[in-house]
Amino acid sequence: MVQLPHIPPYKTKVVEPVYFRSRQERQAKIEEVHYNLFNLHSDWVIVDLMTDSGTGAMSEYQWSEIMLGDESYAGSESYFKLIRSVQDIMGFEYVAPTHQGRAAENILFSTVVNSGDVIPGNAHFDTTKGHIEFRKAHAIDCTVQKAYNTEDTFPFKGNLDQEKLEKVIIEYGREKIPFINITVTCNTVGGQPVSLQNIKDTCSLAKKYDIPVYMDIARYAENAYFIKTREKLYTDWSIQAIITEMFKDVDVVWMSAKKDGLVNIGGFIALRDAALYEKLGQFTIIYEGFLTYGGMSGRAMGALAVGLKEGIEYDYLHDRIKQVQYLGSKLKEYGIPIQEPIGGHALYIDAAKMLPQIPITQYPAQVLGVEAYIEGGVRGVEIGTLLADRDPKTGKDRSAKLELLRLALPRRVYSMPHMDYVAATIARVNDRKEEIKKGFKIKRQAEILRHFTVELERA
Ligand code: F0G
Repeated sequence: MVQLPHIPPYKTKVVEPVYFRSRQERQAKIEEVHYNLFNLHSDWVIVDLMTDSGTGAMSEYQWSEIMLGDESYAGSESYFKLIRSVQDIMGFEYVAPTHQGRAAENILFSTVVNSGDVIPGNAHFDTTKGHIEFRKAHAIDCTVQKAYNTEDTFPFKGNLDQEKLEKVIIEYGREKIPFINITVTCNTVGGQPVSLQNIKDTCSLAKKYDIPVYMDIARYAENAYFIKTREKLYTDWSIQAIITEMFKDVDVVWMSAKKDGLVNIGGFIALRDAALYEKLGQFTIIYEGFLTYGGMSGRAMGALAVGLKEGIEYDYLHDRIKQVQYLGSKLKEYGIPIQEPIGGHALYIDAAKMLPQIPITQYPAQVLGVEAYIEGGVRGVEIGTLLADRDPKTGKDRSAKLELLRLALPRRVYSMPHMDYVAATIARVNDRKEEIKKGFKIKRQAEILRHFTVELERA
């Protein structure tokens, strides 16, 4: 019998045009914007894989919530819809909306992080690290070493190395550690999941030393899907049951809802402790807005309330991960070195391996990103030395552990032919890679988070 192929669990109601320009036009444009992909007008991009953050397509149910949005300054019905959704799915009593993930970090860290503190965790995301370092505290990476070998196929490369973690706790002491940070999935090392066993181990180690556990849950639903499909013990568990188990011993979570919340803007902090919620509230009011909207419109909170529910549906998650895997397997067929196993929201091409002739000091992942743009109008993002930025003490470039070009897939936006197009674009760059002889040097850079605005020139 003919096997029915996989199809997405949705169909298209509204479309967005894409504009095609010539290779020469793109070549001139990227030079004009100083080889910084963030400086491109989106009309100039054919397939935009810069980020999966805020770039997804909302469902008709979410758009209905946009019409139903209650824009009352205080006590909006949309706010109550949001907190009910968070309470139902995640089991945290208190919810503080914020306009996005880093705003949650700002509020949370303003409340609990002091100068000289250390925050151990699995490879902190760049804004998380930025917010920690901005407060003269330190983020200490305790990710398992396997995460830094792109060929190792260990299924949970987001895991925290328990020995490293305990060493850090003993070295710095409980007083210097306001919390242990778990990021699910771990974006920085390739959208790699953390196993439920590792979450449990981390929570019990934290308990032993009386340290709270905080979780950055931007992509928690994808993490739960990986637990279901990769961790034997949980194969028969529902996504919801796995999520409940993931959060059972976690004190505080914060979410950039632009990812697994399936919305274009939004975020929140959720927690169990009334006193801490009260403390956070002061910062919410100064930085974001009143407690019942925290930087979000009523309509955005309503859309998020629905998006959170859609984001944990098995069929949706299965389709999502399937698309990422499809692109990954195409790239592998073309002989492109990628981070394995294929992670949740993105493909990470090992640029140092693909372009070994470009020294790390000339930003090979950025070179690959620029070439992919010139070749086919595909926009990815550098996760390497540019992003790693400089050591705040020495002012010198920090060497990134990996030199990656990330191709992140927006949710429910692109179809399989787009994936074929992207893979073929990268393959064409690979075919002419010997011609790429030089990388970039920096013309101008900002004090922190330089990758957003950096200006480059050919080295
Ligand atoms: N934590 C993680 C793991 C993230 O990936 C991001 C954002 C944030 C926090 C910050 O959230 O953008 O809503 O302020 N990641 C985006 C990305 C920008 O492209 O990976 P935000």
